[in-house]
Amino acid sequence: MAILEILEYPDPRLRTKAQPVEAVDNLVRTLLDDLFETMYAAPGIGLAASQVDVHKRIIVIDISENRDEPHAFINPDLEISGKEIEAEEGCLSVPGVYESVTRADHVLVKALDRDGQSFEFEATGMLAVCIQHECDHLEGKLFVDYLSSLKRSRIRRKLEKEHRIQALP
Ligand code: NI
Repeated sequence: MAILEILEYPDPRLRTKAQPVEAVDNLVRTLLDDLFETMYAAPGIGLAASQVDVHKRIIVIDISENRDEPHAFINPDLEISGKEIEAEEGCLSVPGVYESVTRADHVLVKALDRDGQSFEFEATGMLAVCIQHECDHLEGKLFVDYLSSLKRSRIRRKLEKEHRIQALP
């Protein structure tokens, strides 16, 4: 397994639309393992392949306290319903930034598992929010896109400054 480098906003590669996985093979399974390892190491509660510059429709999530409830979705297809809820979101690609975003409270996901079998999964609350956030990454969308342009440009400047400092010799 390997810890992969996570792209950070405003890296334009985060805007790439991910392509469907055609076959769930060993390469895909290795990528899943690497995504989990990278997410747990960060640490974070969700990661999309897009964030490690692999533009395939794969997301991993674990919102549990004990980090023992991993969920992997390949080619996820979302049906969104329920009332709207507002929750504080963060993102490993937008480090140190937490902002309130409104999303649906309920999702039904159709996806493939690591054996290539199709399954359905229902989620509410925090897990539903997290699934929507990760699926947005596959469309090249980030949670900062839901904020005002003023807030977004402030975040952009803050991260660009941090990247300049990190790049210093
Ligand atoms: Ni994210």
